[in-house]
Amino acid sequence: MISTWLTDRFDLTVPVVSAPMAGVSGGRLAGAVSAAGALGTIGFAVGKPEELAAEAAVAAATGRPFGIGLLAWLLDHQPALLDAALDSGPALVSVSFGDCAPYLRRVRDAGVVAVTQVGTVDEARQAVDAGVDLVVARGGEGGGHGRDAVATLPLLQGVLDAVDVPVLAAGGIATARGLAAVLAAGAAGAWVGSAFTACPEGANSDTAKSAVVGAVETDTLYTTVLDLGRGAHWPSEYGGRAIRNTFADTWHGREAELESSGVRSDEPAVWVGQAAGLVNTVRLAADVVADLATAEELLITMWQRCTDLHPPMR
Ligand SMILES: Cc1cc2nc3c(=O)[nH]c(=O)nc-3n(C[C@H](O)[C@H](O)[C@H](O)COP(=O)(O)O)c2cc1C
Repeated sequence: MISTWLTDRFDLTVPVVSAPMAGVSGGRLAGAVSAAGALGTIGFAVGKPEELAAEAAVAAATGRPFGIGLLAWLLDHQPALLDAALDSGPALVSVSFGDCAPYLRRVRDAGVVAVTQVGTVDEARQAVDAGVDLVVARGGEGGGHGRDAVATLPLLQGVLDAVDVPVLAAGGIATARGLAAVLAAGAAGAWVGSAFTACPEGANSDTAKSAVVGAVETDTLYTTVLDLGRGAHWPSEYGGRAIRNTFADTWHGREAELESSGVRSDEPAVWVGQAAGLVNTVRLAADVVADLATAEELLITMWQRCTDLHPPMR
């Protein structure tokens, strides 16, 4: 069994966190991931504290540790969500995208592992100054919202060199090969979103799941027009990656014109990253986790090749 800071801290058998994904990862998906030996998280964007508490109760019913992921720029408008999150007994709380520092301090003071997702090396340093226990280096190929400044591998290498807290890699990791690669680089594990977007336990629609299964790796687009088209006010530095659709193809690159026109989209966006091309079937979260767990065999094979080349000195 692979042992890292992540597996030791949360008593996991697989060094994976299923990423918070509002609209997809409710208590059912998070609980299924945690029951399978990884750490499941609930993603929550807008809603009532009671609704978050109800999702957390579903995940907690597995008796395994779980996490909650909140959005910093929305917490500014609904601070009670952080209280509800901390009261519901999570082992980890992530606060990402926006001014996270005050929220992360509260998480840490509550004795809960405080996490944020960063998109540049500088952001990773700021996160450490804010007191995070764990940094997620999230590259631009990832699904949903975040920065598109740097891809996962160059970001991971830079962040691992720059900070002295454990680092998880995020963005584009959906198979054992990807997990093995980031573990070999020095990450404590992977923060995996897209690979769980076609699970029956997810709260997203069957249409969205089918769209993910049907997509290839070139079918996604990083853009702000899908948010402009639904009237969502994400800070401008955070676009989102989703499957291209007619609205995105029509308006991407014409953002100012879209804003002044007031045109709205009625096509629901399917948020997912480039790893959509690796998700080829609807399958249980436990099967996704079991597949990721085979990273261990890949690493052992690689280790054996190294020792064959360089046998120990007698
Ligand atoms: C459908 C979807 C919804 C997401 N919602 C959230 C969210 O509510 N909060 C958050 O911090 N990150 C959110 N993310 C980003 C993920 O936490 C993570 O950064 C991303 O999924 C990692 O890249 P990957 O999709 O290639 O695995 C979302 C991602 C997806 C695909």
